[in-house]
Amino acid sequence: MRKSLLNLIYCPICKAQQFDLSITQENPAEIREATVTCRNCQRAYSVHDGILDILINPSQEILNEQTGWTQLEQMVVNTDELMLSLPDGIGEHKAAWQSQAENFHYLWSQVQLTGGETVLDLGAGRCWATRYFARQKCNAVGLDVLLTRYVGLKTADVYLEKESVYFDRICGDMHQIPLRKNAFDIVFMAATLHHSADIQATLQQVYDVLKPNGRLIMVNEPVVGMFASKALSCPEVEHGINEHVYRYMEYRQALRVLKMDYQLYPFIGGYHPVITKANHLLVKTFPKQLMPKRVWRPFLIAQLLAYGGILNLIARKRA
Ligand SMILES: C[S@@+](CC[C@H](N)C(=O)[O-])C[C@H]1O[C@@H](n2cnc3c(N)ncnc32)[C@H](O)[C@@H]1O
Ligand SMILES: [Zn+2]
Repeated sequence: MRKSLLNLIYCPICKAQQFDLSITQENPAEIREATVTCRNCQRAYSVHDGILDILINPSQEILNEQTGWTQLEQMVVNTDELMLSLPDGIGEHKAAWQSQAENFHYLWSQVQLTGGETVLDLGAGRCWATRYFARQKCNAVGLDVLLTRYVGLKTADVYLEKESVYFDRICGDMHQIPLRKNAFDIVFMAATLHHSADIQATLQQVYDVLKPNGRLIMVNEPVVGMFASKALSCPEVEHGINEHVYRYMEYRQALRVLKMDYQLYPFIGGYHPVITKANHLLVKTFPKQLMPKRVWRPFLIAQLLAYGGILNLIARKRA
């Protein structure tokens, strides 16, 4: 954590914005061990391994999420090299990451950054995307409930040490984001919103932290088709992780309530195998033509509505 992070947070207990900082260990890049105390209610928050832990009274849902991801982490061989390769992956991990990587790279090519933007990577997990913003000299913060190295925020040390980038990390809840209103130019979410049981409440939190004209960038968000069941069975669910699937209209409605205008972007991957295959084939055969010009918009909406797929979008908070 760097001291400047104190200008972005508020105390989730009493909402005060003034803190005392007591540092016990720091290195040239950041404060590694410290206590941050709210000047108003005296609640103390720890900084451990550079991560500010501001998660208060985690719900059973959050505890399940933490346990589930930690169990899943132990089921594969994780290495620093794999983390440094993300989102593309290496070796046997490449196939699992392929769609996510292609969706990310395409959307990333559409996000024009000037550098210096204040960015929140919400549900940052390993922070591979947070470091993309940091490389562009953004003031980036990764927030997640998960600390475990190789799935959670502690992975950030790999990027900080080996790529010489810097970004802050906060252990916190997307349902109660402990960050100040109108403070962020960009909120980025990769495959995270569907981990919320209440997307409207979570998007309201996102809206609040965005500056007027600020952008919400969402990538790799699964969408279920109108005829498909919302029941899920996957290793994540078996390990108690909060996987939900929402229909396109549910995302649309949530953004409408907030009066956020948005642009959809084409995707690779999805749930209907035939559509997924055709989609992969088309976009990979004609990447220059299809991805940049965007798949014909009504077709994209029809596809998301009927068969589901992946939601990639950029929404804007009105000025
Ligand atoms: C599918 S992972 C995506 C991680 C990362 N964005 C990526 O693309 O690799 C979903 C992430 O959401 C996080 N998450 C789940 N519930 C959360 C909550 N209530 N607040 C913050 N993060 C949460 C999980 O810990 C996990 O890191
Ligand atoms: Zn307080």
